[in-house]
Amino acid sequence: MKEFSSMVQESKSKPSSLDDDDGVLTRVVPFTRHSLQKHGKNFIIWMGWKPTVSIMDPDLIKDVFVKLDNFQKLEPNPVTKFIATGLVAYEGDQWAKHRKLINPAFHMEKLKNMVPAFKLSGGEMLEKWEKLVTSKGSCELDIWPDLQALTSDVISRTAFGSSYEEGLQIFELIKEQSALVQEAVMSVYIPGSRFFPTKRNRRMNAIDRKVKDSVRGIINKKLRAMEAGEGNNGDLLGIMLESNIKEVEEHQNKNHGMTIDEVIEECKLFYFAGQETTSGLLVWTMILLSKHQDWQSRAREEVLNVLGDKNMDLNAINHLKVVNMIFHEVLRLYPPIIGLFRRVKKDITLGRFSLPSGTQIELPIMSVHYDKEIWGGDANKFNPDRFSEGVSKATKNQVIYLPFGWGPRICIGQNFALIEAKIALAMILQRFSFELSPSYVHAPQKLLTLQPQYGAHLIMHKLQ
Ligand code: HEM
Repeated sequence: MKEFSSMVQESKSKPSSLDDDDGVLTRVVPFTRHSLQKHGKNFIIWMGWKPTVSIMDPDLIKDVFVKLDNFQKLEPNPVTKFIATGLVAYEGDQWAKHRKLINPAFHMEKLKNMVPAFKLSGGEMLEKWEKLVTSKGSCELDIWPDLQALTSDVISRTAFGSSYEEGLQIFELIKEQSALVQEAVMSVYIPGSRFFPTKRNRRMNAIDRKVKDSVRGIINKKLRAMEAGEGNNGDLLGIMLESNIKEVEEHQNKNHGMTIDEVIEECKLFYFAGQETTSGLLVWTMILLSKHQDWQSRAREEVLNVLGDKNMDLNAINHLKVVNMIFHEVLRLYPPIIGLFRRVKKDITLGRFSLPSGTQIELPIMSVHYDKEIWGGDANKFNPDRFSEGVSKATKNQVIYLPFGWGPRICIGQNFALIEAKIALAMILQRFSFELSPSYVHAPQKLLTLQPQYGAHLIMHKLQ
């Protein structure tokens, strides 16, 4: 652990370079990279008293993702529980029930109705940018805070519909909570310290109560409106509540549905799972398109050809092939979630490993994405063309492309995120061209997600 944290501290102190293709992995996962070089692809890291086995073999990765009963999520840390539990943390029947009830909210025909909300949020960000450009038509901008605000805005609109303003306030609190939780996780762990009446603990408890009360208020308002025959209004919360009510009615039993407290957790989770991840996808895309101007031009040409002045509906968006290839490649090189963990439920054999119960498994997504044996000699190069015939062709149907996880627990919001990102990028490309500012410092770092440590300073040029 000492070696691990000193390597992380050291790598964070030095920026990387966009020209150094090997530098990214060294900066983001220095210890994994060091272990790979020293021991090869199979190694164990001792996280305190817990052995963590790193798995890079595609067939074994597939087993871990598929055998849900044998490989389960890690026990949530008592402090991170403040962020959100919900679907992402559940196991067994509880997970299956929630996944079934939440699934309808992410069906394509439901996402189709959310397109106007995506456009509205994107439009507001672009209006702000347009005001910032000088008479020369350019400005330097750190786009990172704006992209984070954009994805918060989108989740608030699509999750809470008419209660959008209240949603934004809740998300401000959740953002503060996330920073406090990260601070707590980073500090020295003293068992039971979360119960000490420190300033931070008091604030965390107060935020938790406030968030829960506010979401409960929105849910009750929504339920009353639905009882009065207003329908679900097409937002994530409304659809989720409708699916819950149907389930309870079908089985004539309340245990078949989610409790209000569980619905509150799922709403918080939408924010955590969907906000930083999608803004991460957008920010690395704009950084890479600033460096690779040829791909920026190709993407813009496609957007103008396909969308022109047509209405940006889901059908048109689905025709953005180059943009899609670019997103796949960005998610390969800069996956917002750089690795996943599981724990072995009972003694088991995985390939040639005998894993005792309690062993932790790491699926090092980012290292798999950069593996030259898997992806070829240009694995660390930005080349969206590798996805020109889709993901299955690029991966030769192996389980090696994991930005959204894989198997039954694959990200439920994958289509939501990609549609949101396509709309935002298309709107930006229609109105701006962009390049790296001389003040841009390339420094990807892992917090909860992969983020630009010093922001993303670009020069934005307004297109005529
Ligand atoms: C680029 C954007 C996104 C990325 C890269 C991403 C990534 C992931 C990954 C890797 C997992 C699997 C976790 C695991 O197996 O342990 C996951 C699960 C999940 N994601 Fe996403 N996500 C994104 C956007 C979203 C959005 C927009 C939402 C919702 C609004 C969302 C909601 C969820 C939920 C609820 C789960 C848990 C699914 C389950 O356990 O059944 N994600 N995501």
